Amino acid sequence: MEKKIAVIRGDGIGPEIVAEAIKVLDAVAARYGHTFTYDEVDMGGVAIDKWGEPLPAAMLDKCLAADSVLLGAVGGPKWDGLPGAQRPEKGLLALRAGMGLYSNLRPAKLWPQLADASPLKPSIVAKGIDFIVVRELTGGVYFGQHKTETVDGQQVATDVMPYSEAEIERIGRIAFETARKRRHKVTSVDKANVLDTSRLWRSVMHRLAAEYPDVEYADMLVDNTAMQIVKDPSQFDVVVTENMFGDILSDEASMITGSIGMIPSSSLGEGTRGLYEPIHGSAPDIAGQNKANPIGTILSAAMMLKYSFGMEEEYAAIEAAVHAVLDAGKRTGDSMAAGCTQVTCSEMGDAIVAAL
Ligand code: IPM
Ligand code: MG
Repeated sequence: MEKKIAVIRGDGIGPEIVAEAIKVLDAVAARYGHTFTYDEVDMGGVAIDKWGEPLPAAMLDKCLAADSVLLGAVGGPKWDGLPGAQRPEKGLLALRAGMGLYSNLRPAKLWPQLADASPLKPSIVAKGIDFIVVRELTGGVYFGQHKTETVDGQQVATDVMPYSEAEIERIGRIAFETARKRRHKVTSVDKANVLDTSRLWRSVMHRLAAEYPDVEYADMLVDNTAMQIVKDPSQFDVVVTENMFGDILSDEASMITGSIGMIPSSSLGEGTRGLYEPIHGSAPDIAGQNKANPIGTILSAAMMLKYSFGMEEEYAAIEAAVHAVLDAGKRTGDSMAAGCTQVTCSEMGDAIVAAL
């Protein structure tokens, strides 16, 4: 197959981790007879510095013209002082919206080799951690109206959190369909004891649950979910939730698996063109030091092969290579443990290529 991949290296550790993912993609292309071409896209802080805005229209167009998009990370202290609408993160939100990517899948799966790195007690970890957060990605408070005004001499800030039935239904369907390919269980997370958006969310989910009688369904309040994730993560299979709750819970979910550096994500809309990125940020504190864990990005590239290009075998080969390298005791600093060998970001990429 021939595929054109838009590549957003981004800020902080972004360029380092993306370079390793491209190494792995090239190795897969050579082994399976594919041709991947890369189109470089500026987004985030780097685009602000070069073009004066976080996602210039021409850059979004490049992404829309590609078969899929691979992203490292955006943001950093250099741009923290900018107003909200001009920040690097705004580029990412605009990209998700511009590509219509409403469905964000974030697997939280324990790598057995990293069990010791989980901050949870061994007795909890032993019950297994294998669930997926299905996060609504283009609605809710991140996309509602934002304003800061002066009222009676003091500043008042407002962020609006809108959700329509259609937005809830389409992400709900993704969750139920995903559960059918897994352990047939959906937990829908909301704050229906307080929020109107959550009450609407719950009523739409109940309507859908009736359409999927083969899938076990439960509602859970978001505060309780935050607690249950650390108390007994083995109870979850598919967790579906709105944008901000999903942002928060997916960080929590990743941490209990040992390292946020290991977790990939896919963002998809109606077609097969997606955006694939690790769930972690740009880690400015270790940027440029060849220390970052590239595995989350490498697995994101693997997800692209599977979900956007239908390359199941290639996906499995990358996953197996990651297992082999972890089995051999190679670790980047974030997941380093006694008895293992610490490697750099690029050494980790090379080791995964060698294992392929
Ligand atoms: C994520 C990030 C982003 C989000 C930020 C960078 C806008 O935290 O992908 O989880 O909140 O969606
Ligand atoms: Mg986040």
